[in-house]
Amino acid sequence: MEGLIKQAARDLVESKHAIALTGAGMSTESGIPDFRGPKGIWTTNKKAEAEAYKMYELFLKEPKTYWVEISGSQGTYRKFYEEIRKAKPNPGHHALAELERRGILKCVITQNIDGLHIKAGNKKVLEYHGSIYKLRCISCGSRFGIEEVSLDELPPLCKCGGVLKYDVVHFKEPIPLDVREESEREALRCDLMVICGTSAVVYPFADLPIMARFGSGRLPLGLYVTGHKTNVKIIEVNAEPTPLTQEGVSDYLIQGKTGEVLPKIVEEVKKARKI
Ligand code: APR
Repeated sequence: MEGLIKQAARDLVESKHAIALTGAGMSTESGIPDFRGPKGIWTTNKKAEAEAYKMYELFLKEPKTYWVEISGSQGTYRKFYEEIRKAKPNPGHHALAELERRGILKCVITQNIDGLHIKAGNKKVLEYHGSIYKLRCISCGSRFGIEEVSLDELPPLCKCGGVLKYDVVHFKEPIPLDVREESEREALRCDLMVICGTSAVVYPFADLPIMARFGSGRLPLGLYVTGHKTNVKIIEVNAEPTPLTQEGVSDYLIQGKTGEVLPKIVEEVKKARKI
């Protein structure tokens, strides 16, 4: 593994536009369970996963019931969101913030809704699945900090009259266009992508490495425009191999904990840059 850590540091130092893609595996060392790892929320509670698939439809049909479920004292989400709010960034988050401070990492695109990359100090963070710290209007797309909106009346309404929901993307819910487009631009522009702590099985997020690899993307009908392999360097840091590893989308996998591997890469970057 040490050889690959040195390799990743060299690749990062030589890159011109490195970005990071992250998933729930980044936050397990902050005490937030992932979804599909051995002790993941979906792995251990298939019923909760089935329920999660119904949330967006519930919001569209019965926004008030949705809000009671999502914020009510009985709501399963309320406990999860409270856990998340207590969590602190771990050494993996701090390592990515350090890479941004050193001008190497240009952007983090995260599936995580826990805000820990921002808490760790990253400035350019695209929250692909949103954030528990924001509400979003599904009519006009406006976002508000949770502290800006009273939840005394449910469902909370936007100034435009639209209904607000947490800016958290549920299954079957479209990715907000602004964050999706910017993420795709970054994926097509980068010359290095480090993918940390994701099983890479949820779309359209999992299209981003494909776009970087083949300079293409998922067409409306789900077909890939098969471009030629680009020379983008794609590095995975994950506890286990993923489809990206198996299908040769990534160049190499550094198998280990993000909270341990990423700080070691930063140490090698410092040596390589002699600062
Ligand atoms: N270090 C490295 N990898 C880890 C660590 C760790 N400390 N902890 C867990 N992992 C790995 C797991 O082995 C797994 O491969 O991280 C990956 C996490 O995968 P998932 O649990 O599927 O999480 P993620 O890929 O982010 O899920 C994507 O699914 O349910 C939706 O919206 C939810 O954003 C989430 C999306």
